[in-house]
Amino acid sequence: MDSALDWNKLDTYAKQWIKEAGNIIRNSFSSQLMIQTKTSPDDLVTNMDHEIEQFFIERITKNFPGHRILGEEGVGDNVQTLVGIVWIIDPIDGTMNFVHQQRNFAISIGIYENGVGKIGLIFDVVSGDLYHAQKGQGAFLNDVSLPKLKNVKLEEAVIGINATWVTENKRIDPTKLAPLIKRVRGTRSYGSAAIELAYVAAGRLDAYITMRLSPWDFAAGLVLIEEVGGLVTTIEGKSLKLLEQNSVFASNASFHDEVVDTYVLGKNE
Ligand code: IPD
Ligand code: CA
Ligand code: CA
Repeated sequence: MDSALDWNKLDTYAKQWIKEAGNIIRNSFSSQLMIQTKTSPDDLVTNMDHEIEQFFIERITKNFPGHRILGEEGVGDNVQTLVGIVWIIDPIDGTMNFVHQQRNFAISIGIYENGVGKIGLIFDVVSGDLYHAQKGQGAFLNDVSLPKLKNVKLEEAVIGINATWVTENKRIDPTKLAPLIKRVRGTRSYGSAAIELAYVAAGRLDAYITMRLSPWDFAAGLVLIEEVGGLVTTIEGKSLKLLEQNSVFASNASFHDEVVDTYVLGKNE
C-alpha cells in the first residue's frame, strides 16, 4: 500500500487537520485550563496537549490505518523503529508560552518514511502562519515559497539560543558558547523549538542552538530547514537520532562547520 501512497493527499489532510486543531486551541483560550507538571516544575502539560494529540490520533488511524504515531504525550504508539510511515507529533510545542502568554506556541508534525523526513508542518497557532515542506519540493510560509538561505557571516548572524546554555547547566560548559554569543550580531529566544526552527527555515534566525530536544520538537523543522539548504545536526555536527533526545544545531550552511569546530570541538584553539 505504501508504495502507492499519495503524498499530496497525505499533505492535504495533515494541513487541514493542523488548522482545525489550531482552531480548537484558540477556542480554548476562554476556558479553564488544567495544568500539570511532568519531569520538573518547569515542564508543563495541559488538558489541551492531550486533547490535541488525541485529535490527530483519531484522524490518522481512521484515514491511514497502517501509519504509526509518535506523539509527545504518549497517546499514540510505542514506536521503537522508524520502519514504514511514522507521524512525529508535538501537539503543543511551547506549552509554557501557551499557558503564560497565549502566543508563541506551535503544532509540529513531521511525517517520516523509513526514517526519511517527507513532510514537515509547523503551525504557529496564534499568528496563523503555517510553515510547510514536502521533501524535494521546497519550503513555504503559507502560500509563499521560502528562498534558499543566503550566505551569512557569523558577525551578521542572529541566533536563537536560551540563556540556560551559557550559565551553569548539566549539558555544556557555559564558557564554550559565550564567545560565540559575543561574536554574533544578536541572540533571540522564543520558547518554542518548533517556531525557532521554522524561523531558521524562513531566514529570520540564522541558527538555533539547544542542548536537548526530543524527536517531536525537531522532526518537522528538520524537513523544512533541509529544503532551504540549511543544516540540522547535533551540536557536535553529527546526524540527529530520531528516536532519542539530541542536542540540536540548526543553521545556515555558511557557518555551520565553523561553529562546530571552533566553539564546540575547540579545534582552532
Ligand atoms: C519545549 C519547547 C522549548 C524547548 C524545550 C521543549 P514543549 O517543548 O520547545 O522551547 O526549550 O526543550 O521541550 O515541552 O513546550 O512541548
Ligand atoms: Ca516540544
Ligand atoms: Ca509539547
